[in-house]
Amino acid sequence: MSAVVKLSNVHKSFGTNKVLDGVSFEVGRGEVAAVIGQSGSGKSTALRCINALETIDGGTIDVCGHAVHDAKLDRRSLRRDVGIVFQSYNLFPHLTAEQNIMLAPTCVKNKSKAEARDLAHDVLRRVGLAEKADHFPEQLSGGQQQRVAIARSLAMQPKLMLFDEVTSALDPQLTGEVLKVMEDLARGGMTMILVTHEMAFARKVASQVVYMHKGKVWETGPGAMLDKPNTAELADFVGSGL
Ligand SMILES: Nc1ncnc2c1ncn2[C@@H]1O[C@H](COP(=O)(O)OP(=O)(O)OP(=O)(O)O)[C@@H](O)[C@H]1O
Ligand SMILES: [Mg+2]
Repeated sequence: MSAVVKLSNVHKSFGTNKVLDGVSFEVGRGEVAAVIGQSGSGKSTALRCINALETIDGGTIDVCGHAVHDAKLDRRSLRRDVGIVFQSYNLFPHLTAEQNIMLAPTCVKNKSKAEARDLAHDVLRRVGLAEKADHFPEQLSGGQQQRVAIARSLAMQPKLMLFDEVTSALDPQLTGEVLKVMEDLARGGMTMILVTHEMAFARKVASQVVYMHKGKVWETGPGAMLDKPNTAELADFVGSGL
């Protein structure tokens, strides 16, 4: 099985702060990797490096055939293959859900308005918001806005989706709606890496859990490893105690 994403011995510092200290993991096609760990352990930084939002100091990152560590990386081409969704939705407030979604396909992929509109309706249906196409962000709940943000990424037809704590700003009910969309995506075969604090979700949906601690992959394995941690640090993190 060829990996969609492969990090090998990745190093990244901010000044004297060593944030990624030899991180290696890989994610195969259709797999879902859940990255967990304490605040400051380097989870967001790892995700941002995968999408070349940060440059790395050492090691290699290969993503959908792009050598992300290479100085000659074509960032635009990489980002056509990789969608990223953050905790803040960053929708344009003066554009409707549909218009927000149509923007990138028309501007970046040169799709016609009609094509982009069809695409917008298709992805809105996938996130359960077909009837909200004409709503502005302020007319939507936080969970609905986040689902529009996910739909906007899907409209670029990415090969890989990255999610960084996309439910952290939402109350439990809205969180459930967004997690359901992500679970559907996973079932549909989307390759995904998600940083999450939702342990139950990680256990249920992830093919691989990556526990980061002090800038290293401290422990990795299937969701069941959360029930039987090998290290005291992970046991502490999941609150089971050793
Ligand atoms: N652009 C930056 N400049 C300087 N330091 C940074 C930058 N981005 C992250 N850091 C530092 O890198 C470390 C890891 O940050 P990161 O955001 O990757 O952690 P995290 O695991 O995502 O934490 P959280 O769970 O709080 O989101 C922190 O010490 C942070 O202060
Ligand atoms: Mg983070």
